[in-house]
Amino acid sequence: MCGIVGYVGVNLAKQELIDSLKKLEYRGYDSVGITILNSSLETCKAPGKISELESKLPEIDGYTGIGHTRWATHGQPTEQNAHPHLSGNISVVHNGIIENYHQLKDELIEMGYEFKSETDTEVIAHLLHLNYQQSRDFHTAFRKTLKLLEGSYAVAAVCEDIPDEIIAGKKNSPLVVGLGDNCNFAASDITAFLKHTKDVIFLEDLEIAQIQKNDVQFFDLEGKPVEKEKTRVEWDLEDAEKAGYEHFMLKEIHEQTKSVYNTFAGKLSELDGSINLDELNLTKKQIRNLNRIELIACGTSYNAGLIARYLFEQLAGIHTNIDTGSEYRYRNPVFCEDDDVLSIAISQSGETADTIAALQSLKSSGCNTLAITNVIGSSITRDADDTMYIKSGPELGVAATKTFTSQLTILYLLAVHFARVRNKINTDDSRNFIRALKKLPGNIQKILNSKDTIRECAEQFSDVSDYFFIGRYTNYPVALEGALKLKEISYIHAEGYAAGELKHGPLALITDNTPVVAIATPGHTYDKTLSNIMEVKARNATVIAVAEEGDHEINKYVDIVLRVPETEELLSPILSTIVLQLLAYYTALARGCSIDKPRNLAKSVTVE
Ligand code: M6R
Repeated sequence: MCGIVGYVGVNLAKQELIDSLKKLEYRGYDSVGITILNSSLETCKAPGKISELESKLPEIDGYTGIGHTRWATHGQPTEQNAHPHLSGNISVVHNGIIENYHQLKDELIEMGYEFKSETDTEVIAHLLHLNYQQSRDFHTAFRKTLKLLEGSYAVAAVCEDIPDEIIAGKKNSPLVVGLGDNCNFAASDITAFLKHTKDVIFLEDLEIAQIQKNDVQFFDLEGKPVEKEKTRVEWDLEDAEKAGYEHFMLKEIHEQTKSVYNTFAGKLSELDGSINLDELNLTKKQIRNLNRIELIACGTSYNAGLIARYLFEQLAGIHTNIDTGSEYRYRNPVFCEDDDVLSIAISQSGETADTIAALQSLKSSGCNTLAITNVIGSSITRDADDTMYIKSGPELGVAATKTFTSQLTILYLLAVHFARVRNKINTDDSRNFIRALKKLPGNIQKILNSKDTIRECAEQFSDVSDYFFIGRYTNYPVALEGALKLKEISYIHAEGYAAGELKHGPLALITDNTPVVAIATPGHTYDKTLSNIMEVKARNATVIAVAEEGDHEINKYVDIVLRVPETEELLSPILSTIVLQLLAYYTALARGCSIDKPRNLAKSVTVE
């Protein structure tokens, strides 16, 4: 995830910015840059690590500057795309996604602005320049610019004409001001300046900070002064990296309100129910002609693929197969001459050896290939014909959480897009779907608000040695994912089953000491799931149901109910999975496990 810093003080800004950027390295990044406000703007950027920037940085005097670590979302991690972005005598760094940047960019190009990067951020620099030319007042220009932006942003900017000052503002992306001694900071997180000060002021959305070395003023977007309270944080550096959460996994679970939003931001058009997947090179004709999709993935990504199979078949009417990378590569799949196959490889890291090998094999069989990944420029993107990025930000916990829900989100978008192109759903249906998608971040927040109930449940069963997870239809992969998450971080043996399969064997293992988690959200298999719940109840199992808020019927059948908000049947896996992520997390916590780095596991599995 990108990181912003701004420094104004009495020390050389160059060293202060480099030190602060290093403190943000834990967030993950793939390019870096700084602008120092001397008598002119001195900017230096580099793809790769901060050390690469340091090795090319000239001596620069100057006591004010802004810096950025970029985690690519729009365009490759190149020097051109690295921040800061410049327009005339103005330099800008930005975190977030500007949803209306296409439209703004077209307008600016028409006015004669030239774009040097592929980023959404560059529109902010040019808008700021344009507005400054018109008003000749940098603060007015900054406010006017922020008003034009849709989406999320934390922005810091400097202007050559205004020495010793940084201006910063935010909406839906964090920004905090650090109050030092003879120096002040702006940053996307406290770690950036913690060694200088623990006195901070958090900006609220649509607030602006005007930062000088001995003074900070706050305003709203109309320019009216805002009174802000100073907070003293008692975090040490490690706490601050985790934003106060005990583990990265818990932080990443909480980030899902944001990461899911980032995945769909700018892609939904409620007006005509269309999905804008500009980055997809597949033509409408190719989409119409498809007669099969082959999904390839491993682990959690495979579980996302299992859900996608239902989506592509049900929504878009395309026959869909799925296999794990490690199995596909040793099969001898049969292709017919008139096959028109799209192969989709799903991998959060983009580096999983088995998935990449299977994708290469599908490509050599003549399939069109599409990679869905979180990491720009990862190996899989070089092999695939086409790539879609899930934009969930770096995930540092080994257990995949936010990348799973973002994978699902992009797969929903793809399935609805295919369905539209193939005339399988009408405008009203896709509009409803878009509305439901837009409600997801709020619904995820509701689940996070109920985490104490999930924690109590987890603690109650943290001593058991076996757990079962059951579900039908799209809740079957949710059950698999719930079991995978639990075994991975708590080391409890857990099995995920299609609920209808229990009676074909595993029922023999059910006792009064095997909790069974039943994903029982509303849908066409709900009644059947209730029957399966009764089967395990008859064997004295304790049943924990994941059920919808308004479902009171379920209380009659189960021992504990963990609630998810109401949503579309096809979207409910995203919500149910978050409940199961929290269940796994709190179980592992109660057992004192190493949650972020579980034994025997790695974040990227680059070996066969
Ligand atoms: O990077 P990928 O999505 O290709 O990784 C696949 C699996 O290794 C990964 O999902 C693994 O199962 C996670 N540890 C699950 O939490």
